[in-house]
Amino acid sequence: MKWLDILDESRLPEGVREVVEVEGAPILLIRYQGQIYAVAARCPHLGASLKNGRITDDGFLVCPRHRSAFSLQTGEVAEWSPWPPGVGRVLGALRREHALPVYPVRTENGRVRIGI
Ligand code: FES
Repeated sequence: MKWLDILDESRLPEGVREVVEVEGAPILLIRYQGQIYAVAARCPHLGASLKNGRITDDGFLVCPRHRSAFSLQTGEVAEWSPWPPGVGRVLGALRREHALPVYPVRTENGRVRIGI
């Protein structure tokens, strides 16, 4: 694994989200409850941006498009296209369930680094 220097930690206060390009892939950085998470910026379901997705009290990122939900820590799928009824089931059947890619994060000397 290589660690890439991404941005200054001060750019990610609590609740702020940043999308960065890392080797051609958009990655969403989120500071949530003091922890910085790095996840794929596009939903594995049908590619909607996750930047404005709601975070549940138990740490799941909910896609704003069809409300699939993923663990911020592991990318595990908690819900797969559950909404809207009917349309959600059809789209869910066309696109099999995929975890959200997550990336390890560490901070050093005030800089955020992502492992890829
Ligand atoms: S694009 Fe995210 S749930 Fe469909």
